[in-house]
Amino acid sequence: MESVRSDAFATVDGTMHAEGVALSDIAAAVGTPCYVYSANTIRARFARLTQAFADVPHHIHFAMKANSNLAVLRLLQELGSGVDIVSGGELFRAREAGFAGRDIVFSGVGKTVREIEQALDDRVLLINIESEAELLTIEMVAARRGVVASVAIRVNPEVTVDTPHEYIKTGEKGGKFGIPRDDVERIAALILTLPHVELKGLGMHLGSQISNADPMRQALPRLLAVVAAARSQGHALEYLDVGGGLAVPYEATDPEADVDDYARLVRAAVRETGLQLMLEPGRFIVAEAGVLLAEVLYRKHSAGKDFVITDAGMNDLIRPSLYQAFHQIDPVVETSASLVADIVGPICESGDFYAKDRTVADIQAGQLLVVRTAGAYGYTMASNYNSRPRPAEVLVDGDRFAVITERERYEDLVRLERAHLQWRTA
Ligand code: LLP
Repeated sequence: MESVRSDAFATVDGTMHAEGVALSDIAAAVGTPCYVYSANTIRARFARLTQAFADVPHHIHFAMKANSNLAVLRLLQELGSGVDIVSGGELFRAREAGFAGRDIVFSGVGKTVREIEQALDDRVLLINIESEAELLTIEMVAARRGVVASVAIRVNPEVTVDTPHEYIKTGEKGGKFGIPRDDVERIAALILTLPHVELKGLGMHLGSQISNADPMRQALPRLLAVVAAARSQGHALEYLDVGGGLAVPYEATDPEADVDDYARLVRAAVRETGLQLMLEPGRFIVAEAGVLLAEVLYRKHSAGKDFVITDAGMNDLIRPSLYQAFHQIDPVVETSASLVADIVGPICESGDFYAKDRTVADIQAGQLLVVRTAGAYGYTMASNYNSRPRPAEVLVDGDRFAVITERERYEDLVRLERAHLQWRTA
């Protein structure tokens, strides 16, 4: 499959562009660090997936934890996407972006009563249940409101998944996610006794950054077996949710998910059931559509090593620190010279790095660089650590660009702490 990465952020006349806009122009107008997204890449990725599943009834529910910016969500909403949410905050954002309840599925192992109330009031399409206790809470909340909640069981198919980091596995035995496949029949039978809950679907999510179809090949028959069991109990199922997890390449040598292979498997399985297919991709849609644009503050040579110190840190993009994730780093203005260096941020932690002992372009202080493949789990995982305002986000569409999140200001850092202290006694 062609790589969209090179198309969206290509070097033209020696300067890297995002679509038709020079990144140096964006840096001059907005400052650094900032995230820059390519609208046409998001459109292309969405279309790629839609095409692969064109001949089965399906709906894409973008996992908005990957990128929950309102402008990005609106773009996806216009393309016909739904969303997969995991919190009341994401539900609020999704509604702000224009998604209707029927476009929303609600996942996550720890939904609060308040969040369940919110979901029922907004009439979300499905609440994915992940435990018996949660199911009983949903029954209680739905009964109080006099409504019937549509739910799906998230099945843990207990397959072995080869992801680049432990933290992004979710479909394995012993994990906190989903209901173990051996318990599904019992839970489905329990649902039949609950008047305010209706079982509409079965789903799973195997993990993230999965580049081969083996786990899916192993898991689908297990999911189909529980579909058959639930049907024989009398449940009128409508949906089969296969989750997200499609991999994207971060490094030139990384395998890219074979979307057609994946789609072939999933299409065949869903056809067998006659159910409507749901997909929950996050990274696949947005990762390659974004870069983090930063400026080199200083160069430093210390203990025989070279350091490139940038104005972006682990608070802006935590993936290298948290998962030892690889992100390609390139200069905005082309240069032929290179060096081996650690690319680090300004934060007071040794874990604040983007790359170690990496051969990179010889980028001098005052010059710009990009950290690539940063459109997923970048800004959404950003923090204010070291009291650093979170960066701006910019959307490029053709030869135009717009700020879609303003850079935080210092005032924003203390806004919620300004009120006079109201001491209470116990
Ligand atoms: N559906 C569910 C229920 C999920 O938990 C997730 C991701 C997705 C869909 C979307 O997975 P994707 O298609 O994006 O792989 N912060 C980590 C990734 C954590 C993924 C959590 N769940 C990272 O930066 O790699």
